Amino acid sequence: MSRPPDGFSPAQRNLLELMGTRLWKPRSPDRTGGEPAAAAPPTSPPPVGESAAAVPPPSPSAGDSAAQDSPAPAAPPPELEALRSAVAACTACPLHSGRRQTVFGVGNPNADWMFVGEGPGEEEDRRGEPFVGRAGKLLDNMMRAMGLDRDTAYIANIVKCRPPGNRNPSLEEASACIPYLHRQIELIAPRLIVALGAVAAQRLLDTDQPVGALRGALKHAERLSCPVLVTYHPAYLLRSPGQKRKAWDDLQLAMREMEALRAGGG
Ligand code: URA
Ligand code: SF4
Repeated sequence: MSRPPDGFSPAQRNLLELMGTRLWKPRSPDRTGGEPAAAAPPTSPPPVGESAAAVPPPSPSAGDSAAQDSPAPAAPPPELEALRSAVAACTACPLHSGRRQTVFGVGNPNADWMFVGEGPGEEEDRRGEPFVGRAGKLLDNMMRAMGLDRDTAYIANIVKCRPPGNRNPSLEEASACIPYLHRQIELIAPRLIVALGAVAAQRLLDTDQPVGALRGALKHAERLSCPVLVTYHPAYLLRSPGQKRKAWDDLQLAMREMEALRAGGG
């Protein structure tokens, strides 16, 4: 609400620097209250990149830091569990034949924030959870820098089954699967969706425009009840670290928009 313009704790600022972003001069810690463990940077901060995989995943007991940004986690509502079962049994597109398991989504069913990627890779297919490979470690860092984690935000993909060889899902596959995502969005009712990369952005917004043209302002789609903020996919950021600054600009914009949405009661 009345946070300072940069609005971040020293620990968060530290994480932004881990992302390769130097936006603020250090200032003396002036926050009262305990620093939540989840927001604490790793003891020897690795630069994000190859070594991002060395950053430990958020602690399962995390929550207080992100509580500022999302309602408390709750038990999954039966409708969401029913949808998960429907997805697990789905054979609506050819991707079903190559999967080990479906990757439904993870996080707080009451999340204000929803992050959407394109589809499971090999590690996700093996573990049944989105963004658990190298790109996932960077996403964890990005979320932590925002005061979020897997217990407070929600993460899902456009397609729930792994495309062979990690190719992009086809338009047909995405069209077959996206009703599940739309239902997830309906049930979770986030205030804001962060679309990670071109596939997520284009399929959610039903457009062919590239990420570079879609980022920088909230986008709206008729069938979505909340706005979409487009940014680069973490896998792309690992390949093009020079773009991390732009991605961080996007996430900052998303945080400002979230504050406005909350202030407006929307
Ligand atoms: N990339 C994605 O888009 N989604 C995942 O779940 C993992 C990697
Ligand atoms: Fe069904 Fe989606 Fe898997 Fe295709 S990708 S089989 S539509 S769950």
